Amino acid sequence: MEKILDIISKKMEQAFMDAGYDASYGRVTVSNRPDLCQYQCNGALSAAKAYKCAPIQIANAVVEHLSGADFSMCQAVMPGFINLNLSDSFLASYLEGMRTAPDFGVEKIGAGQTVVVDYGGANVAKPLHIGHLRPAIIGESLKRLHKFLGYNTIGDIHMGDWGLQMGLIIAELQERQPELPYFDPDFTGEYPTEAPFTLSELEEMYPTASGKKSDPVFSQKAHQATFELQNGRRGYRAIWRHIMNISVADLRKNYDNLNVYFEQWLGESDADPYIPAMVEDMKARGIAVQSEGAWVIPVEEEGDKKEMPPCILVKSDGSSIYATTDLATMVQRMQDWNPDKMLYVTDKRQNLHFEQVFRAARKAGIVRPETVLEHIGFGTMNGADGKPFKTRDGGVLRLEQLISDMTDFVRSKVLENKIVSDDEVEETTRKIAMGALKYGDLSNQPTKDYNFDMERFAAFEGNTGPYILYTIVRIKSILARYGAWEQLPIAPPANEYAKELMLCITKLSPALESALRTSSPNLICAYIYELAGAVNKFYHETRILTEENEALQQGYISLIALSKSILEQCIDLLGFSAPEKM
Ligand code: ARG
Repeated sequence: MEKILDIISKKMEQAFMDAGYDASYGRVTVSNRPDLCQYQCNGALSAAKAYKCAPIQIANAVVEHLSGADFSMCQAVMPGFINLNLSDSFLASYLEGMRTAPDFGVEKIGAGQTVVVDYGGANVAKPLHIGHLRPAIIGESLKRLHKFLGYNTIGDIHMGDWGLQMGLIIAELQERQPELPYFDPDFTGEYPTEAPFTLSELEEMYPTASGKKSDPVFSQKAHQATFELQNGRRGYRAIWRHIMNISVADLRKNYDNLNVYFEQWLGESDADPYIPAMVEDMKARGIAVQSEGAWVIPVEEEGDKKEMPPCILVKSDGSSIYATTDLATMVQRMQDWNPDKMLYVTDKRQNLHFEQVFRAARKAGIVRPETVLEHIGFGTMNGADGKPFKTRDGGVLRLEQLISDMTDFVRSKVLENKIVSDDEVEETTRKIAMGALKYGDLSNQPTKDYNFDMERFAAFEGNTGPYILYTIVRIKSILARYGAWEQLPIAPPANEYAKELMLCITKLSPALESALRTSSPNLICAYIYELAGAVNKFYHETRILTEENEALQQGYISLIALSKSILEQCIDLLGFSAPEKM
């Protein structure tokens, strides 16, 4: 469906033309004085300069040519503004269009385009910690938003599965169980299908090994093992597969718990086969140059305000680094999916890395000139006190722990308020906790740091996930008491609260499009917060279930039903859902 602003801008442009002025002056905007009008056009003010006459004269002439049916008011006011209010019938028919169209008539602006969202950022063999919450939540939401707006979307977790942590584990395993066949270079048989460690052993081995990095002998062994793994040593590849099997199963479980699902479970290791040819090609074409024994891609550009070090492609010891895998991954993505857009969701401290990689990719022609590359660098999540989030003993809090703390906190509220029957407690708790956690995060602009405040996030009032959920649940309960509501058409607003709510509903499309264009799920949150507010205001000021006038009541019901569907759709874009009761 066409957006309201576009519809009325067109009418305004036509009116400017009919009055003898250029159509380009007819752009309408949302009013910055909502107390005076809903929409406004300031075109007469700029037209006045071009046509050398008083703006109010132009505004008056234009208003003469605006057809009446769509506007309850169109007024020229000094010095030359045109103020507009939509007519009730226009509003009702627009909303009826939204109600009956697929996906509320939201325009599929991404149709025919493919986007890769690179998010999650999990590193194999290391448990997810709280630092992994933001990339998972923000990435999932951006992916869902793109999908809803028509893009073909591919979410790729891009696991860290190829670096030194693998060598560290191999070296640690060798110290503990040197007799295993993986370490016997002459072994030619089949390796055991059963891994020589469990998940919890693996989770203990990595930090232990990591703690020994300062021991030069051990460190050398780990580096050597990494090198041999990457160069195809059979026994090490077999250990690697064990680590992957165990670790990926656990990662899946954790991401499932968060309602986060990846279309692709690729990792740095999958980029590895693309590296040799890519590097050779870059050397041959002079894209990469030698510098102190390493191969680098200079990425400085004229007008750079800050220092822009070259992108290192191959280190002087011949090994590849983070940037190399990211470039090779782009080669793979372009070859397999030919995306129009690639989004990377990581901590903002990786800004420079991505700036270098993007420039190098463009310089080398790995992506098309028009391929959009964007790094969504998010800020830090701190504790409620604004200080870095730490466990009591100063360690890094595991993501599982954070989720279970939030769940416990919400469960106690659910039990205390006696909201649901015993068998529904867990499901209800889980949904509210997820809403609290995700909305608490996503309602902030991604680049900003924020404080994780469990009590505030889980509050049923205020700008919180549970407040939005509560609004949905409240509507559900009214609808359930009313009966069959699915076919009821939207009626013209019967009071000012209904009108406010209807105007708010019309802003769905613009809100989603701005959220997409600026990669800001917080704009979806802002929209539903406003919508929930308008619903609640309407609900408080209007007798709905006790209304005796049937037609009036049907109009109320269809309006809140549409509000509910939109709220549910939007929280789905944020990655959570509403319980039946709360
Ligand atoms: N594993 C990386 C980390 O822990 C994040 C990966 C982000 N994606 C990428 N294509 N570099 O920092």
